[in-house]
Amino acid sequence: MHIGILTGGGDCPGLNAVIRAVTLALINECDARVTGIERGFLGLMTRSVRPLDAGAVAGILAEGGTILGTHNQCDPFHYFGAGGADRSADAMATVKALGLDALVAIGGDGTMAIAHQFEALGLPVVGVPKTIDNDLYLTDRTFGFDSAVAVVAEALDRLSTTARSHGRVMIAETMGRYAGWIALEGGMAGGAHVILIPEIEFDLAAVAAHCKAREQHEGHTIICIAEGACEQGAGMTVRSTIAASPDPLRLGGVGHVLQQRLQPLLDSEVRTTLLGHVQRGGAPTAFDRVLSTRFGWHAAQLVKAGRFGRMVALQGDDCTSVAIADVAGRNRRVPHDHELLQAARGLGVSLGRV
Ligand code: F6P
Repeated sequence: MHIGILTGGGDCPGLNAVIRAVTLALINECDARVTGIERGFLGLMTRSVRPLDAGAVAGILAEGGTILGTHNQCDPFHYFGAGGADRSADAMATVKALGLDALVAIGGDGTMAIAHQFEALGLPVVGVPKTIDNDLYLTDRTFGFDSAVAVVAEALDRLSTTARSHGRVMIAETMGRYAGWIALEGGMAGGAHVILIPEIEFDLAAVAAHCKAREQHEGHTIICIAEGACEQGAGMTVRSTIAASPDPLRLGGVGHVLQQRLQPLLDSEVRTTLLGHVQRGGAPTAFDRVLSTRFGWHAAQLVKAGRFGRMVALQGDDCTSVAIADVAGRNRRVPHDHELLQAARGLGVSLGRV
């Protein structure tokens, strides 16, 4: 059995732990040959591959990023852009030339959508859900999310001491795309006083009133805002558009927009920190190392059992699998009745609405 592995889309902590687990399990349990495809689906187009064995994956469990490299703009079905040509036949020619029996695709919704199309061309595929955003459909957790939340929590801890000392309003902007998971969990872990997420459009007057009340009593406020959050009646703040990307919008900057809107309404100084790619880099937390290892081992079990077209998923505490077809191109956002939102409200955290 000859299995290819690739990592697609943006990187995140835990990718190497998955590569390691899939490789070791396939070699030890199936005596398989394993090949790493470099830079996501681009490697299938350019035939950039490398053999993976126990030596190649030694010592990478705790390493951030991906040893295989990744690419978030290469979709062989729309080669570099929505209007791009369908070059999937070239990728399939690589699959044939290498003699790959199946592919393990580690990635987010975009990667799953592409993997699903390859499945339809006859390439057996198993998916592993990756993203710091935690927004993949039908899995309660993606690996990488816990590591991003830990970064946000630590950042808020640090911002709190300086905010308290100066009596300032400190805004921290997180990643997360169209979902508020990172801001919600990171904000709660870091004791934010205001948490603003894309799923709940915020009312500027309500945010200002919360900060004003804190100016009178506690003196400082920590606001944790997701990059996709928006004020009522306004759209999301788009930083740039990358036409060639399967998801062309790059969000970012809403923290600074909020600072400008909020400052005239308050006496205390308002400052903003954009957490950015710091949330995506670095070593995975112990939780993510274990989750990635479970996911990787489970992916190998699916390959072993010939259960293709499946994506590994965590549902409750159980590692299971779902059809890639049911996941491809879909997102999971924070439901309005989520327990953590209720807990936030109960603890007096403002979610930007009265
Ligand atoms: O999907 C992961 C993510 O980090 C998002 O949170 C963020 O919006 C996006 O990727 C940033 O992408 P890029 O690194 O291409 O700017």
